[in-house]
This record gives sequence, C-alpha cells and structure tokens, in this order.
Amino acid sequence: MRVIEVEHFEAWRAAARELLRDGVPAGDVDFCSPSTQKSLFGDESDDGGRALAAREAAARQRRGGVTVPPDFLKRARMVACHRDEHRWNLLYRVLWRLTTAEPNLLHVAFDDDVRRFDLMAKSVGRDAHKAQAFVRFRRIETEDGEQFVAWHRPDHRILRLVGPFFSRRFKSMRWTILTPDESASWDGAALTYGPGAPASAAPSADDLDEMWRSYYRSIFNPARIKLAMMRREMPVRYWAALPETQIIPEILAEAPARVAAMLKYGASGTRAVSAAEFLPEARDLESLARAAAGCRGCELCERATQTVFGRGPSTARLVLVGEQPGDQEDRHGEPFIGPAGEVLNHALVTAGLARDEVYLTNAVKHFHWEPRGKQRLHKKPPSRAISACRPWLEAEMTAVAPRVLVCLGVTAAQAVLGRDTRALKTRGVPFASEWCERTIITWHPAASLRARTDEERRRIARELAEHLRVAACA
Ligand code: URA
Ligand code: SF4
Repeated sequence: MRVIEVEHFEAWRAAARELLRDGVPAGDVDFCSPSTQKSLFGDESDDGGRALAAREAAARQRRGGVTVPPDFLKRARMVACHRDEHRWNLLYRVLWRLTTAEPNLLHVAFDDDVRRFDLMAKSVGRDAHKAQAFVRFRRIETEDGEQFVAWHRPDHRILRLVGPFFSRRFKSMRWTILTPDESASWDGAALTYGPGAPASAAPSADDLDEMWRSYYRSIFNPARIKLAMMRREMPVRYWAALPETQIIPEILAEAPARVAAMLKYGASGTRAVSAAEFLPEARDLESLARAAAGCRGCELCERATQTVFGRGPSTARLVLVGEQPGDQEDRHGEPFIGPAGEVLNHALVTAGLARDEVYLTNAVKHFHWEPRGKQRLHKKPPSRAISACRPWLEAEMTAVAPRVLVCLGVTAAQAVLGRDTRALKTRGVPFASEWCERTIITWHPAASLRARTDEERRRIARELAEHLRVAACA
C-alpha cells in the first residue's frame, strides 16, 4: 500500500496522474492530508512544497497524459475542498474507475462513490457561494500602505476555489482573506496562499459599512459632485475601507442620469409616472443598469438606498425574476444576496446551474419597506410601482432574450404576468407567455425560509431545484 500525503487539489492531481500512468489501482494507494497544521506564527519550512513541486515537474517532464471528462475535473476541484478526510481516496477511486472500465460512471447517479462525489461537490459549491456573498473587508494601515483584511470561517477549505473570484472583483486593492485553515492574499498582481489564522488576527469591527451608507444617503447630491468636498466630508480612508469602494466610480458614472432626473422632476417635486422616461438610448445591460440607477419612476426610490438592477450575462439562457430586492440587496445593490439568495444559490447548484450563467432580476428594482423597531420590514410592492417599473424588465428581457423565463413565486409571477393567468396554478410546468415562449413559475426561495416544518422546507427547496432543472433543460 502506498501512502501519499497531499494538501491541495493540484498536488493530488499530479500524484494521481503518475499513479494512473503506473497502473496503480485505487485499492493500492492511501491518500492522506498532512497531519501537522502550519500556524500563522509557526514553522514556515516548506519541504512538502518542494517535494511536491519536484513531483509535479517530473510528471510534467514525462508528459504522461490521461484525459478525463472536464466535468470531472471541475467538480473534483470542488470535492478537494471538502473537509471529509477520505476525499482524496474517493477522488482517486472515481478517477480510476472512470479511466479504466467505467467511462460513463459519473452518470450512474445511484453509485455510492458518484453519490458521495456529487454531494460533496454541491456542499462545497454552496459554501463557496456563501463566501462570495458574505466576505467583508476591513481596511488597515500597514508599513507599506493600506491593506484590506477579511476574516471568514467557511465550512470547507474553499479559499483556493474563491480566491480568483475576489482577485477579479477587487483587482485594485491589496487584500487578505484569513480563514482558520489558510489565508489568501492579493497584491494587485498575484494571488498567494499562506497559513491560517485565528479570528483575533483580523482587525476589529468598525461599522464602516453603515457609515458609508449613511454618508452616501445624506450628502450625495449628484448635481454638486465635488471630489474635494467629498474628501473633506469623509476622509478617503473611510471610502476605501469597503468593498463598496467600487461604488465610487459608479456614483460618478450614474451622476449625469441622476442630475438629469433631478432637473426634470426636482429633488422631491413632480414625479414621473413610470420608468419609461428614464430608459437610455443604448439598450445594452450596462447602459440600462446605469440609467436605472437614476430612475425616479415611482416613489419607491425615495426610501430605498439604491436601485438594485438585474445581474448576469446578456448571453444567459435563463432569466430568473423575483419580486423586489430585500434589505441586504438594498444595502449592497445586488439581487438575491441575502437569505433568500442563499436558498436560491443552493437550488441552482442542485439543478446543475452556475449562478453566473443565469440572469437574475426583480419585477421591482427598489426595496419597499416599513420600519419595525430597528428593522426594515419588507412590504409587498404596490401595483403602481410594479407597472411603473415594468419598462426596466421589458428592456432586460429584450437585451437578454432568454430561452426560458422563470418567475420566482406567485407574487413575482403576478407582477410579471398579470393577475389572471391560468398558469399561476401550476408550478414547474413550462407555458408560453407574452414575455417568453417558455415561462415557468416556481417557488420563491423565501417560501422555504417561512416554512413551518422541516419537511415543508425540504419539499419547497427540492421542488424549486427540480423546477430550475426543468427550466435548464427546456
Ligand atoms: N427576494 C426577491 O424577490 N428578490 C431579491 O433580490 C431578494 C429577495
Ligand atoms: Fe424606478 Fe422601478 Fe425604482 Fe420605481 S421601483 S423608482 S420605477 S426603478
């Protein structure tokens, strides 16, 4: 029995490639993770790394090539992040079976190995989505300038999976994400991974988030944008403290639209009757989103923080429409990133869909709420707002021209399709609507959060995923 220590997917992959080439069956090898954890302040020696690099180089040199389905590699990379200590052996067993006698193994859903492989990949996928939505950076001063640090405790070791996402999103910041297992750092050019850290290593919580939002709400008047003034009012170091920093170029970009709207309707004077008057000439998603940021087509814009426009590629085959943004969406300007978004993410993964391949939006683009103590309670959007906002949805549907339109929940469906649609009664069955040849109504993900029993919650989540799968295949 060969015992091989591996820590990361690439190491496993290099070792597995060699084993396969040497014809070593899955039963003759035992992969394990290194037993000693490196600590942030501990031994930094890297013999394991050097040995591994040598092995990889040797493997590269010999250029032994086995081809495996790309789908296997994609999901294996996720399974590799799972905490299950048997993951490496499972991966090699699946790989061995795939490349020897069972090339279609991954389609055998009732096979024990395949089932575990699928479940583990899904669980890691959910965890990665969670990290993408909830990691929040804080700014700290270091000897060589400013640095952003976030502390996150994922269920699995997903840092290597999500690192590239953060380096794309926060390209111009120098940041570090600390987790108990390891850390990832981006210096503006390269992503490196290091040892893990305790929560105490992350800077303490300032509520910069809240500060930024109240600042933005209270003083931002687009007709008088002056960077110098903004800097005086709020030190730049505060702006920079947030991922929402990204918002500054957006504010500047959307300012002309907001100025035009203010000139036309006054800061709080006469109001437009619909979003139609705010539609830009160019109808690509980017121009639409920019113009929608200045929409004052109904009164909802007055109490919400910002417009939450749809997100996703114009090439998406699926458009998913919810009702309206919630509290978190309103704060961050992105649809479905709160608790309902988490349920939706789960369902998407279960249905075999990637969140970034669908277009997500809402029937109404501003958050409608009423205060309840310190909380902002979601209120159903008035039908006036639903009709006022319709031009945005129409423009999004034209820009994306999806194959399938999915309405999330009956309220969303009514908002989109009108009250008396017979199909409102049938969830999960595609029908033709005025919007799209294939339209499907399913649960709103929040319905599962409101379920009274576990059983009901599971049923809703299962049906939501099933309907999304139907949509994906329709
Ligand atoms: N619920 C919705 O309908 N849309 C969102 O964006 C979030 C929650
Ligand atoms: Fe415009 Fe829609 Fe917001 Fe009303 S809810 S202001 S129509 S974007």
